[in-house]
Amino acid sequence: MNLQTIQRELDNKQPREILNAIYSHMDNLAISFSGAEDVVLIDMACKLGLNPKVFTLDTGRLHPETYQFIQSVTDHYKIEITVLSPDSKTLQTFTQEKGLFSFYQDGHSQCCGIRKVEPLKRHLNSLTGWITGQRKDQSKATRNSLKVAEIDSAFTGENGDLFKFNPLCDWTSENVWSYIRALDVPYNKLHDSGFISIGCEPCTRPTLPHQDPREGRWWWEEAESKECGLHTSIIKPASATPK
Ligand code: ADX
Ligand code: SF4
Repeated sequence: MNLQTIQRELDNKQPREILNAIYSHMDNLAISFSGAEDVVLIDMACKLGLNPKVFTLDTGRLHPETYQFIQSVTDHYKIEITVLSPDSKTLQTFTQEKGLFSFYQDGHSQCCGIRKVEPLKRHLNSLTGWITGQRKDQSKATRNSLKVAEIDSAFTGENGDLFKFNPLCDWTSENVWSYIRALDVPYNKLHDSGFISIGCEPCTRPTLPHQDPREGRWWWEEAESKECGLHTSIIKPASATPK
């Protein structure tokens, strides 16, 4: 199956149907978990009996509430979550040279590169595809042209091209939170204190009503640079053939 065929198949489908369809084509998939959207996907996948593999990137700089949240999702769904860590030598050299808050001076890309992107890259190398909780309306500046199915333009998988799926692409924040409330899905307690988009502790702050949630992330940088390198949504021609 190639990208165009799978995109056609997933067109106008609801997230639950999307998950079912993609797992019917490939099984070496994993859900990338950090926030509210991802637990919705975990909830759906577990209830569909898809037995999802789940991983999270532990940057070492998450809020205590986020660590508690990761554990509560593990316990609630009785699943194993693979917790990925940065390379210890690279991290040590970096913090020795630049200290613990260099991102406030020279931007977040180097720190995100070491703490998130490199461990993600290593992990994705063992997969056929990954599933994220990204939504179009999370950022007009960077996620407006998101697709449900893509070939990842930044990373490769076990067979070369890596599939990337965003089943909640067309959902709104309201859709996500209605689902969470209706089905008693676990969520990060920081949301009770006004946090909307949650990343690492030094780079995340609560937002005011009607403020763009991404303004609470890396607030000292321009809107167009508020991505940490996990996601680049440019589609390149597909040649990957799962299963
Ligand atoms: S970020 O790139 O700005 O950090 P965001 O917080 O919006 O991303 O999350 C979008 C999606 O990226 C999540 O739904 C999740 O799939 C993935 N993601 C973000 N941070 C992590 C993380 N620490 N571990 C695993 N996946 C993550
Ligand atoms: Fe470093 Fe901030 Fe990126 Fe976390 S979000 S990896 S602390 S720059």
